[in-house]
Amino acid sequence: MTDIHSHVLPKTDDGAATYMESLDMLRIARSKGTKRMVCTPHFYNPRIGHVDKDRVFDIFEGLKARAAGIDVEILLGSEVFCSDLFLRELPMKNFFTINGTDYLLVEFDFHDDIDRVLFAVDIITKAGYIPIIAHPERYSFLRRDEYYVEKFLSMGALFQVNTTSLAGMHGERAFDFAAWMLDNRYVAAVASDAHDTSFRSPDIRGAYMWLYGNAGFSKTYAEELFFDNPEAIISGQKIITRW
Ligand SMILES: [Fe+2]
Repeated sequence: MTDIHSHVLPKTDDGAATYMESLDMLRIARSKGTKRMVCTPHFYNPRIGHVDKDRVFDIFEGLKARAAGIDVEILLGSEVFCSDLFLRELPMKNFFTINGTDYLLVEFDFHDDIDRVLFAVDIITKAGYIPIIAHPERYSFLRRDEYYVEKFLSMGALFQVNTTSLAGMHGERAFDFAAWMLDNRYVAAVASDAHDTSFRSPDIRGAYMWLYGNAGFSKTYAEELFFDNPEAIISGQKIITRW
C-alpha cells in the first residue's frame, strides 16, 4: 500500500518527536503492508508555527539515511494549512508538493468559512496545483452542506479520508460522513495521517480490510483507494475517478 499522508518526520511538527519514533513508525507501516509513505509535515499551521523548508528537507534526508534498512520507500510532501498567509505566499512555493508532483495536500480549519475555502481551492487550482483535501470528513463546513463536496470535485480538488475516521476515532459524525463519501465514490485515497506509534499509528491495513470486509465494498474499490490512486498521485499521473 501507499500512504500519502503522515507525520513521520521527526522534530518538524506534532508528529514523531525523535528519529527513534520515526523508525518505529516506519517499522509498523512496513509490518502492516505499507511499501511507500509520503512524509507530510504541517506547513502554515498556526498550531505549529513557522516551518523552515530547508530544515525539513535536511531532516527528510536524515530519516532516509537512517531508514535504509527498513523496506519502506519514503517520499516528501507537506500538509499545507490554507491560512491567509499561505494564500498570499503561494507563489513563493514555500512548501513541498507530494513527491514533486502537482498534487498538494491541503487542510483547513475544522470550522472554516465555506466561502474562504472556495476561494482558497480556486486560487490553488489556478496556480496549477491539484489540491488533495485532507480529512474532509472532519470539516463542519462540508458536513453542514453536502453540496460542496461535488462543488470541490468539479473545481478539480480531490479528497483523502483518514483511516482513524473509519475506525471511529474522530467521532460518529466524522465516521458517518466518511462512509457517505465512500458510498458515493467521492474519495480518491485513504491514508493514515499518522502522528505516533499508538493512537494515530501508520497501520492502514485494518481500514483496507474493513472496507472490502465488514463495510461491504468491492476489493477493487479498496485497492483503488489504498494502492492504485495513491500510486498514481505520487507518480504525478491522473487518478481513476468515479464521480
Ligand atoms: Fe495531517
